[in-house]
Amino acid sequence: MSSDSLATAASPALSPAPAAVAPRKLNILILGSGGREHALLRAALKSPLAGSVAVAPGNAAFEREAPCHPLDAADAPAVVALAKKLAADLVVVGPEAPLAAGVVDALEDAGIAAYGPRAAGSRLEASKVFTKEFLARNNIPTALGRSHTDLASALADLRTRSLPVVVKADGLAAGKGVVVAHTLAEAEQAAADMLEKRVFGDSGARVLIEDFLDGEEASIMLMVCRRRYVMLPASQDHKRVGDGDTGPNTGGMGAYAPADVVTPEVRRRVVEEIVEPTLAALEREGIDYRGTLYVGIMVTAGGPKVVEFNVRFGDPECEVLLPLLADDPVRLMWECATGSLGSGEREAGCGGEVPVKFRDGSAVIITLAAGGYPGTPRKGDVISLPAALPAETQVIAAGVARDAAGNLVTAGGRVLGAVAFGATLREAVDRAYALAAQIHFDGMHYRRDIAARQLNRRRAPAPLP
Ligand code: AMP
Ligand code: GLY
Repeated sequence: MSSDSLATAASPALSPAPAAVAPRKLNILILGSGGREHALLRAALKSPLAGSVAVAPGNAAFEREAPCHPLDAADAPAVVALAKKLAADLVVVGPEAPLAAGVVDALEDAGIAAYGPRAAGSRLEASKVFTKEFLARNNIPTALGRSHTDLASALADLRTRSLPVVVKADGLAAGKGVVVAHTLAEAEQAAADMLEKRVFGDSGARVLIEDFLDGEEASIMLMVCRRRYVMLPASQDHKRVGDGDTGPNTGGMGAYAPADVVTPEVRRRVVEEIVEPTLAALEREGIDYRGTLYVGIMVTAGGPKVVEFNVRFGDPECEVLLPLLADDPVRLMWECATGSLGSGEREAGCGGEVPVKFRDGSAVIITLAAGGYPGTPRKGDVISLPAALPAETQVIAAGVARDAAGNLVTAGGRVLGAVAFGATLREAVDRAYALAAQIHFDGMHYRRDIAARQLNRRRAPAPLP
């Protein structure tokens, strides 16, 4: 973008922005079509910085809130052409595929600011082997792992490990490329499926075999501008389809934040041992990282360790984090995209955490899934929604379409999200379940124990007097 395109009146609702980013109304284009993008869309529509807001491709429910443009979000020339047509100042990239495909590179090369890392930084999600080697050479705590391209060496490695052991496809596999094997036979099968049967296509041409990390998982999302970052509250996803973490893995059946498994001590160690060394190493290795960095950690007896990095907001974590942010996420994304995050801070040159404000309270999302999910989901079931929403709740639309009669119908595995905010986690959970109880479609199923781990912890017996 040219600097003169930025020179109009400042918005009074925002704190003073650095001179490099004269605030003005921004035309925003959001890429993606799921629950995360619905949360981003709602945040953009609320932002005092927003001029026009559009989505590509979006979904049938978004159309009531903003114009949706059909498009393959990973098709870089098509995205650049649309962004130009809409005179977009900021393109917010929701999912990982466009990032890995270099959509941000193409937009920036065309002079359009984009929130999300370029292809080089996106390798932190697109290649688990790249990430494991990056972590190892920079002494960042993670499970010990080794990569293999042939089955014989993978099998030999497996025989040296204790159980459980983890087998991962190197590339993107829609969250399905990880097997935590409890027997050697299961691990060998997983390696053979990936390397020989190519069940994940070329994503499984290399596999990573790593030690199992024992502990409780949490996600920490950062909005990164090179060495400076905003750290959002820790959250916890629920990946298994069934209550009590049973059944197959899904894209995420619910989430809540803040997650107290990340105590102040764990948070301090995550910052010192993971976040700051990672951002310093990215810079040393010549990667200009601007966008979300999702740090998936295991809180083990030996401290926090990296399970995975993602290079975009988690879904459904994003849907509970944005409602907790009291500062304007659009301003933060704009500042990350334009390299100016925290440039007003005293020690801006050194990097480090940029403080922002959060609402006091908790947020919860319950995924309302289609019949059959996480197997092949039923499609076309008519969705019935309440006429009025309970206080502090919202419905997020992910896998939806309209039928010929104009009804909203199911069109994906994760159909809707019931989101609620509360002064306490209990209040947020009760509100989210009260909302879920008022929504219906044939085959709908959801977990009844979202956030139970933390609620139960709070019900622990009081210490003896
Ligand atoms: P990933 O796609 O790497 O995040 O892995 C998906 C899920 O597998 C994680 O969220 C964890 O629940 C589990 N997982 C992955 N790696 C490990 C590990 N080394 N130890 C224990 N669980 C793991
Ligand atoms: N909720 C996990 C993810 O977005 O990868």
